[in-house]
Amino acid sequence: MALPASDLTKQPDNRTTMELGAVLPRTAEVRDGHLYIGGVDMVALAREQGTALYVYDEADLRWRMEAYRNEFRARYENSDVIYASKAFMNKEVVRIVADEGLCLDVSGGGELACAQAVGFPMERVFVHGNNKTPVELREAIGAGVGRIVVDSRIELARISQIAGELGVVQDIYMRITPGVEADTHEYIRTGCEDSKFGFNMRDDWAFNCVKDALAAPNVRLAGLHCHIGSQIFALHSFREAAQVMVELMARIRREYGCTIDELDLGGGLGIAYLADDKPSAIADFAETTCTAVKDFCAEYDVPLPRLLVEPGRSLVANAGVTLYTVGILKTLPGIRKYVAVDGGMSDNIRTALYHADYEPTIANKADQPRCEIVTLCGKHCESGDAVVVDMPLQKADLGDIVCVFGTGAYCSTMASNYNGQPRPAVVFVRDGAARVTTRRETYDDLLARDL
Ligand code: LLP
Repeated sequence: MALPASDLTKQPDNRTTMELGAVLPRTAEVRDGHLYIGGVDMVALAREQGTALYVYDEADLRWRMEAYRNEFRARYENSDVIYASKAFMNKEVVRIVADEGLCLDVSGGGELACAQAVGFPMERVFVHGNNKTPVELREAIGAGVGRIVVDSRIELARISQIAGELGVVQDIYMRITPGVEADTHEYIRTGCEDSKFGFNMRDDWAFNCVKDALAAPNVRLAGLHCHIGSQIFALHSFREAAQVMVELMARIRREYGCTIDELDLGGGLGIAYLADDKPSAIADFAETTCTAVKDFCAEYDVPLPRLLVEPGRSLVANAGVTLYTVGILKTLPGIRKYVAVDGGMSDNIRTALYHADYEPTIANKADQPRCEIVTLCGKHCESGDAVVVDMPLQKADLGDIVCVFGTGAYCSTMASNYNGQPRPAVVFVRDGAARVTTRRETYDDLLARDL
């Protein structure tokens, strides 16, 4: 698919890097014209490690994890934060999640294997997915995961059977689709009625299936779960979802005589991709959800449950950036200016998939104004292969190091080897030191699976 036609009237904003506001990792600074993150010169790092390169500001990651935990605990004592690892996962981030006292959401056998590999406490693992295979279920139950979020009747029967075979009682949640239309891109909306996820509320479907869960052997219904979507700015959607969930809890208590002890309201808090984006703060998200649960529990007369949320993007997106080297410049008069980088849709599919927006800067010209409108295209054999479409950038030269902000979520985890591109390394930076936490893929890695 081709790119949408360039808006030739768009004017550069002439901002310098430090004027990009909330998209910057917390430790971003400019010294002698170079962008530094975690006290590390991004230009030197790119030259040393090669590009494309994912870089994470560890202080920023830890700050957000702490903020989430503290903002929720301050308002709601019996609460926990679950990191949704699909946003970004490698062993090091899981170690940090463990260290910061968060729980972990895994949505597939590979994510569980990563958690196991670093000794993440299994009782703090929550297993998601709308079609967990019987093998994955057996692995999860056998590993002793804390909760499995049941997505269908068929899966309930499978879990019950496997737990029986393994001689354990598995704690489960049921995933409810509360019918709340969150204000976000339709591809990442999940709470509405036509969804492959969970049990919807129509014709008492969810309510009736709860009865099955209560009757099923070898499982214990520990709680209810919902997740209404991702990159959500308007917090009222979370309040609406909380109301539907608490109302359902009240009905279960009234009609089945069973008190639901835990309520997981999912993830979805939006982040700033553009300098002028105004997402809600973590504290406001905590305030909205905690207040809503307390209000509705009082209104419907149910005991306060343990409250959980499972953010992904808002923990990691703004902590991460991608570095590229400029390889080709091509100006098509009256059409657009292309700046080609040594990556693209293989390391960031979000632009092609969702028309995602990002703020770029040139790391070796970080103090200069972004005076041109350009499209940062990738190196892949596809016209729609772009990382940034029609955004301001400093005047680019060959060999410049481009930094794209806000790429910490759903980029490395959605990366591919299209055109035989080895996937980038992941480097964590902190206090002036850089450490490789995932090495760059090699051609040998690419060939290793072929027989
Ligand atoms: N819980 C469940 C059950 C989820 O499915 C997700 C995300 C989350 C939590 C975390 O949501 P977050 O806080 O990150 O919004 N690839 C898309 C996003 C897909 C989200 C999938 N589920 C993107 O790049 O925007």
